[in-house]
Amino acid sequence: MATADPFSEPFGTLFGDQITVAHGSPTGYTYSGAAQPIADISLHPGSHALHYGSTCFEGLKAHTQLDGSVAIFRLNDHIARFRISIGLLRLPVPDTDLLRDMFMQAAVANLEHTPPQPGSLYLRPTMLGMDPNIGAAAAPSETSLLYVLTSPVGDYFAGGIRPLSLLLETKTPRTTPHFGSIKSGANYVMALGPTLDAKAAHGVDQVLFATSGDTTETGAANFFMVDDHRLITRHLDDSFLHGVTRSSIITMATDLGYTIEERSIPASEILERTGDTEMFLSGTAAIIAPIGSLISESGTSKIGDGQPGPNTLKLRQALVDVQSGAAADPHNWRTTVE
Ligand SMILES: Cc1ncc(COP(=O)(O)O)c(C=O)c1O
Repeated sequence: MATADPFSEPFGTLFGDQITVAHGSPTGYTYSGAAQPIADISLHPGSHALHYGSTCFEGLKAHTQLDGSVAIFRLNDHIARFRISIGLLRLPVPDTDLLRDMFMQAAVANLEHTPPQPGSLYLRPTMLGMDPNIGAAAAPSETSLLYVLTSPVGDYFAGGIRPLSLLLETKTPRTTPHFGSIKSGANYVMALGPTLDAKAAHGVDQVLFATSGDTTETGAANFFMVDDHRLITRHLDDSFLHGVTRSSIITMATDLGYTIEERSIPASEILERTGDTEMFLSGTAAIIAPIGSLISESGTSKIGDGQPGPNTLKLRQALVDVQSGAAADPHNWRTTVE
């Protein structure tokens, strides 16, 4: 039972007490149709996911609205991305309707754990390849376990909105180029070592991966540059996660009259723009997190005056307003939890 305060506990360490669970096989998924109490799961020690990494997840949020109701932000887009990740891992892909039911029922069952703004109920749908077969390195898992876990959350970066410090990493990649768009644990553990090393050596918050000068993202968030007229972010390809927040920001910035540039971002361009361009990270967990400084081979560069810039704050407010029901929802991004 999540009775502790999500604003004082680290992000992701509290859990809702209900979970939805389904089992996949070559003939489809079986789901009881209702949430059940959260409990430990039982895995065969030879499960495919444990040995060959056939596991992925999603991350989305249900927000308390100004009128007291709760709405999931961009439910359909997260379902679509989850199905892509599952398919790329060659696991049995559940129908959209099943995922919708399971996401929604997990949110309904944990409604009482949904914190007030600016907190939210984070949903963590998870998929595991379950075939007990340690000889299946080159074969997919035909059976799977699918569940939707929830976590009442406050701020992802302890300390709320504060300018982050990043290391610009041009040598070590975050992950392999063809795997980057899958929301799979392997990608995160590959980024973990370089991130811990950068924290220890430079005291930074995160690493911005710009392998061979091609800037993509950090270990868990997308990267943007913005000034009064233009929003710049990396064009989509398989090398990084196609953030739903990224897509929301592009749409909102277009609505607000910004010119959008989705293109390659050389690391050298970032360093040239530190004086006159705002920079920020985006993600479901991070929302919009301003970058205050960058450490590179040429030393430490302050981004602007080192404080969150006006365009960053404007976009952040626009996003928070549509998530919380304070603004209209012209693109139908909110789905009421009921
Ligand atoms: C590697 C990575 N990049 C980007 C993002 C942002 O994606 P989204 O906006 O869909 O949360 C995330 C997720 O949270 C992530 O884990």
